[in-house]
Amino acid sequence: ARLVVLVSGSGSNLQALLDATADRAYGAQVVAVGADRDGIAGLDRAAAAGVPTFVDSVKSYETRDEWDAALTAHVAEHKPDLVVSAGFLKLVGPAFLAAFGDRYLNTHNALLPSFPGIHGPRDALAYGVKVAGATLFFVDAGVDTGPIIAQVAVPVLDDDTVQTLTERIKVAERVQLVDYVGRLVREGWTIENRKVRIP
Ligand code: GRF
Repeated sequence: ARLVVLVSGSGSNLQALLDATADRAYGAQVVAVGADRDGIAGLDRAAAAGVPTFVDSVKSYETRDEWDAALTAHVAEHKPDLVVSAGFLKLVGPAFLAAFGDRYLNTHNALLPSFPGIHGPRDALAYGVKVAGATLFFVDAGVDTGPIIAQVAVPVLDDDTVQTLTERIKVAERVQLVDYVGRLVREGWTIENRKVRIP
């Protein structure tokens, strides 16, 4: 199966996928990595693995719709079976969702539907929850609202800072991402009434 991965930052989730796909038995390859900005470690990781990259930054297009169309076209060129948002910080638009909405996944560093948005661990810590975690889901038109594929929990410790909690979540998040992307590509899935099932 063909994976296109979208990144905006350090790309540690991307790296976990690159490492997993080195084993043919995993059943998928990262065929391209896209970003919304230059100069990020995620692009360096792709280059180091010999994976082609592209950058579509919102500010190089006049409208958000033009950006969305360009991103959609660039992803489509690589004929993905799954598109994985791994720390991609942009909400895609209607063209992208029309093309890939049935196979566009995102990993979020909180236990949805709690703490959507870009500050999941910070918001969870501020709320005082005792359990945090990560959610893998199919993206829909909302912010972190799509059908949930899997969740993994980690404890919140009394002396946690945003940084220590964020790191603990990321370790579990990477394992979950690799595990479930592999299962989806090897086994397929169905979605009925928002319930994702992997046979
Ligand atoms: C992940 O924890 C993801 O949940 C959040 O940003 C992080 C991306 O990290 N949205 P990386 O770029 O994969 O290292």
